[in-house]
Formats: sequence, C-alpha cells, structure tokens
Amino acid sequence: MITFNKENKTFKLDTPSTSYVFGIEDDFGYLVHYYYGKKIKGDNVRYLAITDKNFLPCENKREKMTFMDCTAFEYSTKGVGDFRTPAISVKNEIGAAACEFAYVSHEIKKGKKTLCKLPSTFADENDCDVLEITLVDKCLDLRLVLVYGVFNDFDVITRSVRVENMGAKPVILDRVLSASLDLDQKEYELITLFGTWARERTIERKPLRHGYQGVASMRGITSAQEHPFLALVTPGTTQTQGEVYAMNFVYSGNFEAGVYLNQFSMPRMTMGINSETFEWKLNPTEVFESPETVMIYSSEGLGKMTRTFHDLYRNHLIRSPYKNKKRPILINNWEATYFDFNTEKLLSIAREAAKTGIEMLVMDDGWFGKRNDDNSSLGDWIVNEEKLPGGLKYLVDEVNKLGLKFGIWMEPEMVCPDSDLYRAHPDWAIAIPGREAGLCRNQYVLDITRAEVLEYVWNAIKNVMDSANIEYVKWDMNRPLADIASLSLPADRMGEFFHRYVLSVYELQRRLTDSYPELLLENCSSGGGRFDPGMLFFSPQIWCSDDTDAMERLHIQEGTAIVYPLSSMGAHVSDCPNHVLGRSTDFETRGHVALAGTFGYELDITKISEEERNMIPKQVEMYHKFNDLVREGDYYRLMSARENGYMDSWMVKSKDDNEVLVTYVSVVNRANEKPVRIFLQGLDPDKIYTNQETGESYGGDILMNAGIVAEKLWGDHKSRLVHFKVQ
Ligand code: GLA
Repeated sequence: MITFNKENKTFKLDTPSTSYVFGIEDDFGYLVHYYYGKKIKGDNVRYLAITDKNFLPCENKREKMTFMDCTAFEYSTKGVGDFRTPAISVKNEIGAAACEFAYVSHEIKKGKKTLCKLPSTFADENDCDVLEITLVDKCLDLRLVLVYGVFNDFDVITRSVRVENMGAKPVILDRVLSASLDLDQKEYELITLFGTWARERTIERKPLRHGYQGVASMRGITSAQEHPFLALVTPGTTQTQGEVYAMNFVYSGNFEAGVYLNQFSMPRMTMGINSETFEWKLNPTEVFESPETVMIYSSEGLGKMTRTFHDLYRNHLIRSPYKNKKRPILINNWEATYFDFNTEKLLSIAREAAKTGIEMLVMDDGWFGKRNDDNSSLGDWIVNEEKLPGGLKYLVDEVNKLGLKFGIWMEPEMVCPDSDLYRAHPDWAIAIPGREAGLCRNQYVLDITRAEVLEYVWNAIKNVMDSANIEYVKWDMNRPLADIASLSLPADRMGEFFHRYVLSVYELQRRLTDSYPELLLENCSSGGGRFDPGMLFFSPQIWCSDDTDAMERLHIQEGTAIVYPLSSMGAHVSDCPNHVLGRSTDFETRGHVALAGTFGYELDITKISEEERNMIPKQVEMYHKFNDLVREGDYYRLMSARENGYMDSWMVKSKDDNEVLVTYVSVVNRANEKPVRIFLQGLDPDKIYTNQETGESYGGDILMNAGIVAEKLWGDHKSRLVHFKVQ
C-alpha cells in the first residue's frame, strides 16, 4: 500500500511486514529518506533524517554542503555536495557533471507493468501498487522519474528510474543507477556472492568497514565471478533471526552493487548498471529507462529473505508456461560424448534413456558446421550432416518415436574465426578497428547491437527451430566481452555499447519466447555465468554450474538458492569420477543433490554401470514424487557444510504446511561423534507429522525444537531424504 500524507509531505510504502518512508524537504523539494524496516503505524519519522533544521538550505545557504553530505537522500546525485556514491551523474554541453532534482509531482497506480525493453517484475492490480515521482533539474531541463513497485503479499519494493531530456540540448548520462538506499547508523555485515567458473555464487560475509566496498561486473554478462546481489545484515543474523536489507538486480550485463559507509557510519547501498563501462547520450525528448532493482527487508533473518525472493520470482518474474509445471527429465550428451557423437550414438543414449523414464534428449555443442572441437563453426548454424545424416528432422523424429522430447544447444551470440559466417562478415565480430581483438575459447562475440547482425542471428535461430520438433533450447554464452567498439555507433555513443548489447540479447530472447511460447528455454554461460533475474524473465531455469560434483554443488546450490528458487536451478546427475575434479560420490547422493534443482542427467547412460543404470527408474520416481513440492514449496536452509565442514541440510515445506522433505548430506564422516541433530523450521507447531518411511509421528513443535536425529552413515558423501506428511 502506498500513501501520501499531504500535511507532512510524506510518502509511506507498506508491505505486509515492512514500512518504507520518505518525504519532501526544504523549499527546494529534495526527496529525503527517513525509514526502512519493520512495519510501523504512523509516518511521523521525519525527525530521523532532519535533526537540525538549521542545515536546510532554505534556512541557511551558508551550510548547503553540510546538508548535502549528511542527509539521507532517496536518490543521490553527483556534483553538488553529496560526496558519497551517487546514483546519477549527468554532464551538460560543456562537460560539467552536476545535477540536483526537485520534487514536481507524483502518481499512485494499481498494478505493475513490465518495463518497456527490459525484463522486470510484473503484477496485476491486486498484487502491487506503483508510485511514480517526477522530479526536475531546472538547469538541465531534465526530468527524473523514480518508480517504486510495492507488493501487497510480499515484503518487496522494486525500484527503477526514467530520465527524460526536456531541454533543447543533448546531455550525457554517465551514471544512472536503479536504486540508492541510505540506512541508519547500525552495525552491519555485508553478504555478497563471489565465484569463478565451476564455483559460482559462493557466499561471502564480512563486517562493513568505512569507505566504499562492493562487487561489479565488467564482462558484459553478470558473470560467474561477480553477482548482482548484496545484503546488509545486523551482526549475528542467521537463517531465522536478524535484520536483512537485500538488493538484487534484474539485469544480465555489467552491474555495480556497493555500500558506502560514510563519516557518520551511515551506509548507502547502491545498485545499477556499471558506470565504469556506461555512458548514454540523451537527445532532446529522449527517455532512458534503467533496469529494476528488487529490495527486500527481513527482520526474521536470511531464510525469510530467501523465501520472499523465491515467491516473488516464481509468481512475478518468470513468465514461461513451465514456471508452475514439472519440467521433463532430460539427459544431456555434453559430459557423455563432448564433441564426439553422431545420430546413432545419440539414438543409443535416447533408447536406453527411454527405458528408464527419462523424458527428453538434449543435444549439446558440436552438431553444426564443422565443429568437432571448440575451435570452429560458431555462427554456422547448419547441421553437420556427416555427424547427423538426414539432418535434425530425422534425428528429432527418431527421438520422438522413442517417446522422448528433443532439446538443442545453441550459442547464438558467437562467431569463430574459422566459420563461413566470419569469412563472409569479418566485421560482424566485435573489435576495435586497427587493433587485433582477443579471442576466448577461440571465438569472438557478434555485434548484435547492429540491426543486420541481430536479424542474421534471429533468422539462424528461427531456421533451426523450424526445422524440427524442438521443445527445449539451451542458450549458451561462453566468453566475456572485450575490445569494445561497434561500427554502428558514433564516437559519442560508444559508451552505450554494453547496455545496447544486453538490450539486443533481450530482444532475441523475447522473439524466441514469443514465437515459440511452449518452448522450454534454459540459459547458460560457461555454466552459471548468466544466472540472474533478467534471464529468469525469459527462461524458467538456468544452468547452475559446469561443476556437477555433488559435494561442490552443495555450496553452489546453497549460494544460488539464497536468492533464486529451486525450480530455476539447472542440476544434473553426472558420471563419476567427476569430470571437473575427479571425485566419486554415490549415485544416490548425486540424485538427492540434483533433486533440489530441475533434475536431469548428463552422462553416457549406455556406459555407466548396470547397477547405476538400474537406479535411474527409482530416481525418476523420486523426482515425480517430490518435484511439485520442491518446485512450489518453501525452502529452508537447515545446516551448511560450507560453515560447519561436515553436514549440509535443507528442507522444502508445502505451502499448506502439510508435507515436508528434508535432505541431509554427510559430507565428511566423523569418528565417535554423537549423531547430528537437525532442527526443522517453519512447521505448524500444532500439527502431527508422520515420517513416511518409519511411520513414526511427531508434533511440528518437536521437530523444530528437538529436531530429528540424522542417521549415522558409513563413509563420506552419503545422503538421506526424510519425508513427513500430516496424516
Ligand atoms: C558451456 C556449458 C556446458 C556445455 C559447453 C559446450 O561450457 O556450460 O554445459 O554446453 O559449453 O561447449
């Protein structure tokens, strides 16, 4: 709910358990932030921000700098005395960077539309109210609209901005972040997700120190290395208690996410497009739209934050028809064959898979051009008939005859120097004229900001899609962007490249999902380098990591699931010894870990041991039994092997509190230790839960307060599921 109190000129944004309050100050019309936290009844919290009226510029021009540098602003600006991280910076025609926005008007609407060209959350009239505040910088003739989405059922506030040039001259936007949030002087710790290839989204937590600290990507994608998520928590915050202020960015390109702790220990959280690689020339009448930042406040620890993100994304971000549906269990041939396959090999996998209940064959990299390794052919999306005689149609029909769906891998944004496409259009690869562009995995990135290149890529995708019954696409992206220049952009617009690139990726994915509405799209980028909310808008699932080792996956999936729903985490059972690190784990454990995601296989089913092959039908049954719960339920993190070194555990509970699935993985067995107790969370204390295997029943209060006792398992890397139902 959004209210505006005319008397004290205060806006109040209420979600079920939070309040966010700010107001208009000074004759000038600054927007000043007062409060964000637990829900409060009144709105008279102005005293929190304006403690000394003498500092207001209208009262005292002498001390404007003092006011600018110590006031909590709703959206910070550069160049006029606020020396903390600015949210916006604008250069005028002489190159001077300064702006200052004054309140003009506001509008409150019901329902939330998506942004124009960018992915964003959406909601109908009952679910979300939107506040748009218009401010103006008179010197620049620049209009700034702050957009707030306030959800009625979730503790979520979304933020984005629009900048409109009302003047007669162009201006240069050299920084337009989506959100800036000035918080109270409390002690905080900062949580971020760092990583690398095969080790994405590792949770990192450290005390907040003075000055600026943050994370940022300059790779053109969100990346495995950095993640557009940030949380400030009060010390001692756990899954179940403590205060959490979290931000996540609905964007798939260069971002920055940081906190500046100023001289008075007031933190400013900021999130938006990375200014280091961004500049935008805004001509008269043009409008620039920023991506969206999602903000969540929880006074009940990290678990509540996580479940709020999950509910929001499942209901108000992912659009695919698959969002509430069970995904077909797929078998992907990447780790099974790499580039060494042909129709017969794929069909032999499909035949064996069909016997076990697997539902879809996904043909990964290597089916097109002359691609027999990763040195050639990206860009030539023509079937290699030497490998696949009869083409895609024949293969797909045969797979379909076996009762399996068919899915395909593509990396549409790329071109290899050794490709017909590159030989015909060398200038389509991103490069700076006169400078040799660097390769990565022997490939260049296509300049899809150019209309003719984008059309080529779209037609290539469309031709593949129309050539056979393709029901799933794995859209990959295997290198960062560098040597940036576009032949279509003049010098004064070259700084727009990265953002235009992301807009073009979105345009292609929009066309794909609009033209083939039933398609199941899975995004991927060298594993989990494009796991972000922007991608989730188009694909209900994203490949989590190329590291499919069950033990490593515990950390990767823990870090991913802190923000993203289990239904979105691409997770497969792969062969052992694991291809990334040579570790062997039980087939059963691999299944239990993959069950926490989309679930599938990535192995040569014709070559694994008979014993393991015989276990697949049971795992398939397990998936069908539990996937509704895993996909739609509430996720609780119970123990973290990352923290304790030996035991990992999580549970999923149905929304009606009547069914619970607990998974625990004993990562390292320990001699002569008492069995581990695992304390369940979020149950109805008054309900009686029955263990579906043993038939024993316990009250929800007992399971939460006394816990369950984990079975002592012989050896390392062992796991168990415990399934409770209310009878
Ligand atoms: C990336 C993906 C893998 C696989 C290969 C194919 O690394 O993450 O799953 O598709 O590309 O080249």
